[in-house]
Amino acid sequence: MFRSPVIDPDRSIAQPSDWIYRRDIVRPGSKDVFESVMDLAKRRGFIWPTSECYGAVAGFIDYGPLGAMMKRRVENVWREFYVIQEGYYEIECPTIAQEAVFIASGHVAGFADKMCQCPHCKEFLRADHVAEAGGIKNAGTMKNEDLSLALAPCKCLACEEVLGKVEVFSFNLMFGTSIGPGSQRTGYLRPETAQGMFVDFGRLLRFYRDKLPFGAVQIGKSYRNEISPRQGMIRLREFTQAEAEIFVHPNSKNCHPMFRRYADYTMPLLTSDKQLADEPTLTLSMQEAVERGIIANEYVAYYVAMTHALLVKIGIRPERLRFRQHLPDELAHYANDCWDAEILSDRFGWVETVGIADRTDYDLNAHAKASGTPMTVFIQYDEPEKVPRRRIIPNMGVLGKQYRNKAKAIFDALAESTPTPEGADVVVDGEKIHIPKDLFEVRDEIVDVRGEEIVPHVIEPSYGIDRMCYAILEQAYDEDEADGETRVVMRLSPKVAPVQVAVFPLMSRDGLDTMAREIQETLQKQNILAEYDDSGAIGRRYRRQDEIGTPFAVTVDYDSLEMQTVTIRDRDSMKQVRVPVDRVPGTIRALVDGKVKFGEI
Ligand code: GLY
Repeated sequence: MFRSPVIDPDRSIAQPSDWIYRRDIVRPGSKDVFESVMDLAKRRGFIWPTSECYGAVAGFIDYGPLGAMMKRRVENVWREFYVIQEGYYEIECPTIAQEAVFIASGHVAGFADKMCQCPHCKEFLRADHVAEAGGIKNAGTMKNEDLSLALAPCKCLACEEVLGKVEVFSFNLMFGTSIGPGSQRTGYLRPETAQGMFVDFGRLLRFYRDKLPFGAVQIGKSYRNEISPRQGMIRLREFTQAEAEIFVHPNSKNCHPMFRRYADYTMPLLTSDKQLADEPTLTLSMQEAVERGIIANEYVAYYVAMTHALLVKIGIRPERLRFRQHLPDELAHYANDCWDAEILSDRFGWVETVGIADRTDYDLNAHAKASGTPMTVFIQYDEPEKVPRRRIIPNMGVLGKQYRNKAKAIFDALAESTPTPEGADVVVDGEKIHIPKDLFEVRDEIVDVRGEEIVPHVIEPSYGIDRMCYAILEQAYDEDEADGETRVVMRLSPKVAPVQVAVFPLMSRDGLDTMAREIQETLQKQNILAEYDDSGAIGRRYRRQDEIGTPFAVTVDYDSLEMQTVTIRDRDSMKQVRVPVDRVPGTIRALVDGKVKFGEI
């Protein structure tokens, strides 16, 4: 299964390929802001530990009021790309599915991590993580028995004692449940949203009027019972995925109908060859990457570029973003090419955040076989093809009389046989029977074939929304100086900032408050989330909004009453401009949508 581990910062430094890329970081010496970001996130209502009053459970988080709003905005940017731009409709499947789905998909048998238990502190550990820390290579491909022996000199990641005798076993990561009373039916919480799109293939195909290519997308919760999640929002047991499954003709993977949109999109690519040779990234356009066989096909390249554009749009800095190709031994069993968008975190190193895989026909074949439902598309040829066909026509009268109840089986076997000039030999119920040549006729014909049934291939861009949210928060966090004090400012893109504009009356009297309320209402009518605040000194109010990343603030002062103008303040530059009141909603809308920049007002 598609499970490349998150690279821990310390261990990632040990990886030569990471060294190479780390030289390119443009924030040299940047400090690890993890603690500050998490403190702010908790304090201001972005992220909370879940069920904290009972003691939080690792691998689960709550999104507070601002976090939930920011996450919705991230999902909506994703929809702008996949639903609006690409035209792939969203579906919504249950998060629990019956066992048969995950037997067919391979998850019941194989969706497991290698695990061991420290004999000293009893902590359960990811065996591959212990191995990596102990300098053991290829732990992922070793047999459990061999890995058990290899881990003996390694240290426990929790108590740091040498493990000694330890047993490695596979731990399936799916949460199991039972459907209905009496535990009659086994179910599982889905470990990926993708399977819903595969099992709905037939209905989706009809919805898209039996034509390839088409895509379906889904945003929703998935569940993985991670062995030892210690990385906050990066490794969750319940997480949100946004996945697209794009069904394409296997022979058309190099003909994306809109490839020109991203053909010239150029970015550094960390190919598998370069990783193996410890060489730096290649900077290529998508067109070149496909032509040189570096990215498997136009479809994968198209979604690599689109993912780059999407991540930059939500505020990820390009210099902290790379696309890394899976190494041959890292590829999931269903994939023939896979690229991960990895985002560089101060705390966690390069974090796999999006995976773009060519899943081939693996999943549709698996579900067709297990369910007995064909998962094919009839592809009609432009012109019917003339195909030679040989028909063998039995002399039914004679054969019927001679073979009676075996006659039907003989007719069928004869139709499939390869006659010689003397006749045809067929096998019926284990008995070899010779049918002389005068008891059948061989007719060679040319027939019209209108088309063929094919199993589509699937290209899958799969986004980890929580990891995107973490990266946004980490990268947005900044400190500068304002009015002689340190200012904490979240430089969130206006596309994802939870509160889009703050509205302040300079004083909450003399009609300034009424006018500010009216402005808030006009903004709300524009579908803009405007927060009204009249408490405390104006400087404090700006600081509060800066800290939650509100990009703009509208202030009503005494001039506003006389001149019908207000100030709009820009969070990042802290500059202000005066604009007529009636232009405030349109201006804020354009700023939030990125149609104008603050300096252009
Ligand atoms: N659908 C890919 C994954 O969940 O990892």
